[in-house]
Amino acid sequence: MLIRTQSDKETMEAGKRLGESLKNGLICLFGDLGAGKTTFIRGLADGIGISSRIQSPTFTYQRVHAGKTKLYHFDFYRLDKPDQMMINELFDAIGKQDGVIAVEWAEKIWDFLPEKRTDIRFKHLEGDCREIIIRQVGSRL
Ligand SMILES: Nc1ncnc2c1ncn2[C@@H]1O[C@H](COP(=O)(O)OP(=O)(O)OP(=O)(O)O)[C@@H](O)[C@H]1O
Ligand SMILES: [Mg+2]
Repeated sequence: MLIRTQSDKETMEAGKRLGESLKNGLICLFGDLGAGKTTFIRGLADGIGISSRIQSPTFTYQRVHAGKTKLYHFDFYRLDKPDQMMINELFDAIGKQDGVIAVEWAEKIWDFLPEKRTDIRFKHLEGDCREIIIRQVGSRL
């Protein structure tokens, strides 16, 4: 699915729609700095019913929020190379199956990503325009 948004509000709305339809699963977000990944996750959290403020977990790599289901928010931007401890934390969260797992800068651990996931690619177009491509991978149609 391809979405074009003209503002951060529209990106949050797209995230919210996805959040409303999810109970669990892994969502990998790809795209440059400022492309809109965290903004989308804010909307996603809203859709899950989470009211706490969503910030990129810059110093911790992971934050967990509770709503009608949990939101595990990972951000691997600062990771220079794949780190086994971080990967274990991610897989622990996946194994629990009690929430939605959103991973910013998932490309940093590309070789370790499980097959079954949703990939979301963000592209910065002109000004406030963003292209968002959502793709289900690794599951049968
Ligand atoms: N259409 C849009 N969608 C999303 N964000 C937008 C849009 N237009 C403008 N913005 C602005 O772009 C910025 C996006 O920042 P955001 O933190 O979501 O990016 P990010 O992809 O998470 O970056 P990082 O890799 O640094 O974590 C925000 O300042 C937001 O207000
Ligand atoms: Mg971010």
